[in-house]
Amino acid sequence: MSAPAPVELRRSVEVAVDGTTLRVPEGTTILGACRSVGIEVPTLCELETLTPVNVCRLCVVEVEGSRALVPACSRAVEDKMAVSTTSERVLTSRRMVLELLASSVDLSRAGPEVRRWIDESGARPERHGPPAPPTGRDGAAAGHHDPPDGSTAATVSRPVLVDNPLYVRDYARCILCYKCVEACGEEAQSTFAIAVAGRGFDARISTEFAVPLTDSACVYCGNCVAVCPTGALVGSTEHELRETGRWDEARQQVTRTVCPYCGVGCNLELHVQDNRIVKVTSPLDHEVTRGNLCVKGRFGYSFAEGDPPEAGGDFQP
Ligand code: SF4
Ligand code: SF4
Ligand code: FES
Repeated sequence: MSAPAPVELRRSVEVAVDGTTLRVPEGTTILGACRSVGIEVPTLCELETLTPVNVCRLCVVEVEGSRALVPACSRAVEDKMAVSTTSERVLTSRRMVLELLASSVDLSRAGPEVRRWIDESGARPERHGPPAPPTGRDGAAAGHHDPPDGSTAATVSRPVLVDNPLYVRDYARCILCYKCVEACGEEAQSTFAIAVAGRGFDARISTEFAVPLTDSACVYCGNCVAVCPTGALVGSTEHELRETGRWDEARQQVTRTVCPYCGVGCNLELHVQDNRIVKVTSPLDHEVTRGNLCVKGRFGYSFAEGDPPEAGGDFQP
């Protein structure tokens, strides 16, 4: 009989969050400590299955004795740390992050909590002016960003990229949270089909040399789609239903099952609307897949409709 796995003993530390004192295991993030007592800290680039990349700065909080605001998603608590998630500096920073994002990115398909945070923060993206016309972002030269003339708000607007039958890339909705890059790369898929190109405001997610996905290293696992928080990456079926006003989550039933394709046993969540599978996700808390799937589990479900393949057809990734 094999020896039992060693139990990891972690010292607990005392931390005060918004005046509430609590003890949490050493190494817990400030965000984790806040969540353990039901204090909400808005986040965009954080996800429980990914290592924090600290890029959105929406989660910053004030730590007593610290000159700069600190990212709650990645900073570990220390003994006797005093944290404020609602100080004036925190609220101002949160409002500015949301306001600048909402003035330049189409957040209309982000989760309802994002729109709530915008409202609660008092962000006024409209004060930056009406959106500027789209620019050819793929052609932008690093270090040569033309400043806006002040009458319009610079945006990341660009046409939707539809270059394969499985999912679309609508980068006008991209907040550059890096989650897709991480999921495609080191954190899950190790395919490295996408990365950040450009600098500053012209930074954007791109395949190598902005080639179509069909010419890239992409294997269509859709793990990038699964982690995107703003609807910049969505399956083709969802995109089609949204564009035609037929996407209705209130009418969708989600059923957890096991992928029928191979013996790994990935868990699937089938999102069914009008007796049709419209999306497949995978639970983040599954110890094997942690939200990730392969192309078959994620997109290979049109056979279930009994009709000629609609999404995917005879597409060979
Ligand atoms: S579908 Fe998979 S391989 Fe393709 S870009 Fe997304 S994460 Fe990378
Ligand atoms: S496409 Fe989505 S996941 Fe990728 S960086 Fe943009 S918002 Fe984040
Ligand atoms: S959620 Fe912490 S930096 Fe984005």
